[in-house]
Amino acid sequence: MSEAWDTLRSHRQDLEGISLASLIDAADRGQHFTHQLSDLHVDLTRHLATDQTLELLFDLARERRVEALREAMFSGEPVNTTEDRAALHIALRNQSDRPILADGVNVMPEVNAVLRKMQAFCESVHNGTWRGSTGQRIETVINIGIGGSDLGPAMATEALRPWWSNGLHVRFVSNVDPSHLSDTIRDLDPETTLFIIASKTFGTQETLTNAHAARRWIAKALGETAVSRHFVAVSTNADRVAAFGIDTDNMFEFWDWVGGRYSMWSAIGLSIAMAIGFDQFTALLEGAHEMDCHFRDAPMHKNIPILLGLLDCWYRECWDCQSRAVLPYDQHLHRLPAYLQQLEMESNGKRTRIDGSPTTEGTAMIVWGEPGTNGQHSFHQMLHQGTTLVPCDFLVAATPTETVDDDRYDILVANCLAQAQALARGHGLDNIKAELEETELSESDISTLAPQKVMPGNRPSTTFLYRQLDPATLGRLISLFEHRVFVQGAVWGIDSFDQWGVELGKHLATEILPSVVDGSATQGDATTRRLTTHMDALRRG
Ligand code: F6P
Repeated sequence: MSEAWDTLRSHRQDLEGISLASLIDAADRGQHFTHQLSDLHVDLTRHLATDQTLELLFDLARERRVEALREAMFSGEPVNTTEDRAALHIALRNQSDRPILADGVNVMPEVNAVLRKMQAFCESVHNGTWRGSTGQRIETVINIGIGGSDLGPAMATEALRPWWSNGLHVRFVSNVDPSHLSDTIRDLDPETTLFIIASKTFGTQETLTNAHAARRWIAKALGETAVSRHFVAVSTNADRVAAFGIDTDNMFEFWDWVGGRYSMWSAIGLSIAMAIGFDQFTALLEGAHEMDCHFRDAPMHKNIPILLGLLDCWYRECWDCQSRAVLPYDQHLHRLPAYLQQLEMESNGKRTRIDGSPTTEGTAMIVWGEPGTNGQHSFHQMLHQGTTLVPCDFLVAATPTETVDDDRYDILVANCLAQAQALARGHGLDNIKAELEETELSESDISTLAPQKVMPGNRPSTTFLYRQLDPATLGRLISLFEHRVFVQGAVWGIDSFDQWGVELGKHLATEILPSVVDGSATQGDATTRRLTTHMDALRRG
């Protein structure tokens, strides 16, 4: 029972037939629907929401104690209740001197010590003090990890490609499909390659299997003793790192209070720091910290993560939106949708509340997307004219990260602005008919064609506009998305920091594996056994 939701549902009925165009055109629309943090401008004017909607959403946030839960997270309380852990990713980028406590202990000295160790290691690789076993300088760093130990660093290093320095190349291997590793190392020289094995648990099947394969590649070319110069680890589990054969002096620690999908700011970000240098990695943390302060301190009506999280809940519950599209008009953000898929769907794709009761509202939306303008020539047709309402996130920088000698970048920006406008305002039947009447078409052709061309409009979007995609801006953006997810989870009453839904599949894969290996098809249910039999027949040719 939720009074706030009941009121919102009936408010939604009142908005039936509302025109987004007329909302946008109201003189004071910018007042409560545009927000700024440093150079990050967030435009919410194209949302199916009025001032009253916002007030009702704030009532919902009060009813669901969003601000109190936020404070609990910042104070190191065990907000990950099912695992009895704090969720203190904000400590990893705490650039102030404020102590942050987990279990009553200030975590900042440990956090800062690991940052110093990462810095020293990055510098030693960059300046050639750390070399491969044959004395060659390291030229390529490969991060082997999956999920949160891959997606954040992979997204961020791609996003910050223009900041790559020191001549190092950074690559990522996540999939246990053997082709991922072999495609990644095919053109590399083992003598100049360094592997970072990134795994919070150091127990993830895919990562360890890939790590062993990489180790065989190094050992075959350079001998077993070379392993210590070509492998470092990032983990919370020193025993398993040592058991793999990596000297724990070359392990970069983090802690159980860092969730995997919230870990790119920890030592899991070592590959990012390797690529862009430690100063720029620090700028990334500073940007995130700035957004943390904003999220913690700004009142609800000015709080960007709160506004976005509440609007997500509004669309999910009152407009039956099943998905949200993330559309970066920024090629360097091409891994952002994949990163956000884990962040949002692993955090909030749940059906049980913290107290064990079933949720009564829909939870996580499906997050999907592609960079513009590519998506325009693919799925935007559905965004504009399909029967499903999909709120969109547009992201665009005012200036490109490289010098261009023509108008390609302005074309990109114009397309971004045009898409959001077209979604919101559409194109009505009368205008289309009037346009067609100027052509040679007959009246009957016009009456058939005109409805096909109608763009209904009224399709909501957020535009994130920033000066340039630099490390600090990326930090602000990603921290904003993290807190947005927190707000959604708080409203839905779920634990955004566990992921029990991934366990059954892992367990079954372990059970089924032996019968795939020997072709006996003895494991799994009838369909699995039938498929394993067919697989075996295909393998035998
Ligand atoms: O898929 C589940 C998961 O536990 C993710 O939450 C996590 O990011 C990923 O696996 C990798 O885990 P680890 O860093 O322990 O290898």
